[in-house]
Amino acid sequence: MRTLRTIILSLGMVGSLMASEALIVGKGTNLAKIGLDAKAWESVKAQNIAFYPQSTIEMSDADVMKLNADNKAKNVNIKSLSDGENIAFLLKWQDGTKSVQEGYSSTAYGDGFAVQFPTVLDKLPYIGMGSEGRAVVVHLQKATGKTYEPNGNKDVFHQVNSSNQNAFEANLKKYKDEVAQAGNGDYQRVYLAEGFRSTTQIRDNSEESMMEMKYDKGFWTGVIVRKLKSTNLDLSSGNFPVAFAVWDGEKKNRDGMKLLSPWVEVKVQNGKNLATLMETKEGDVKNGETVMMENCAACHQYKEVKNAPNYMAPNLSNIGGYANESYLIESIIDPSAVVVPGYNTTAHPNFPWYTVDKGVRSSTMPPFSHLDAKSLKDLVAYLKTLKVEVSK
Ligand code: HEC
Repeated sequence: MRTLRTIILSLGMVGSLMASEALIVGKGTNLAKIGLDAKAWESVKAQNIAFYPQSTIEMSDADVMKLNADNKAKNVNIKSLSDGENIAFLLKWQDGTKSVQEGYSSTAYGDGFAVQFPTVLDKLPYIGMGSEGRAVVVHLQKATGKTYEPNGNKDVFHQVNSSNQNAFEANLKKYKDEVAQAGNGDYQRVYLAEGFRSTTQIRDNSEESMMEMKYDKGFWTGVIVRKLKSTNLDLSSGNFPVAFAVWDGEKKNRDGMKLLSPWVEVKVQNGKNLATLMETKEGDVKNGETVMMENCAACHQYKEVKNAPNYMAPNLSNIGGYANESYLIESIIDPSAVVVPGYNTTAHPNFPWYTVDKGVRSSTMPPFSHLDAKSLKDLVAYLKTLKVEVSK
């Protein structure tokens, strides 16, 4: 085993031999309401996809940064089924602690998972919740305790004056029991997003999905099923990309602090390949590292290279884990095509990540369209190696 790993590592130095990730979809019937424990899952082959810590941002919460300082990547076991009308995914991932968010204003964070689908199929949206002109539909499920929202967003407990608690003790107990009965433990949301912080919750049933999650013996299992075709999506004509995320409540994961998959090609039977969108070419990693040091290290931090201050540009330490090659090439030769939102809380006012003119965002990163074809290919091969190891 050891020799095999050594061989793989040394090959990795020559070129990135990673094939792009793909999920083979099993054929099912009547999937509209398929649950976690449905028999249909048993015959479907599971595939491991590595999820990487999103290191693009630093949070101002020092506690969170410390908890997440040495996050590893995590393998998530994924199965997929389609009946031609619906698409369903079953995710299974390890999480040593079951974290459940109690109530909506709680400081305890819940474990959770999300699945995002692109609304455009000719370009890859920014992996962190889409980008301008490349919206995604995001389905989010979080582990929550039972909560009851009698008037929309306030827990019923808050409506009982606690200083009168003695007088109302009996009443309060009655209330609590009623909440336990009436409340549900299901926190499920659907968003349309064109980049982090641009999310709009879809409240009608146009992008309806069924999601569930269950914790058992150190593992979460999550299921999602939705229609292939809807108001915003049309995934019915062939293969399409999909991306996933998981949050760990124990590490106070929230928002951009999560483990993220790259865009993964969902392969349906007889589907058209997404070749140029998803492919990964080989390149000279060693030369790519030199190109990177010469052209990029003045702004970007990556791995142990910290020549630039952390507010200059996104940290690229895990970019090879969650960014696809076509996205990387685009980011290098045409940075304004996809602009990473400047939500870095350590951002410096003199070094914004983008400027806005008449509502259009332009990246402050200069385009590197002058790089020759070999340098670009090698640089991308090097970028693909930037990722932490997968935890065992
Ligand atoms: C002058 C500073 C600067 C230089 C030099 C620079 N970048 Fe950037 N880069 C940025 C900024 C700012 C952003 C965020 C805005 C955006 O998305 O373009 C960014 C974004 C990126 C992204 C997208 C990151 C993400 O999380 O999706 C990639 C990839 C990237 N740069 C790669 C490179 C590479 C490779 C080089 C060298 C060839 C380079 N950059 C040189 C400033 C720079």
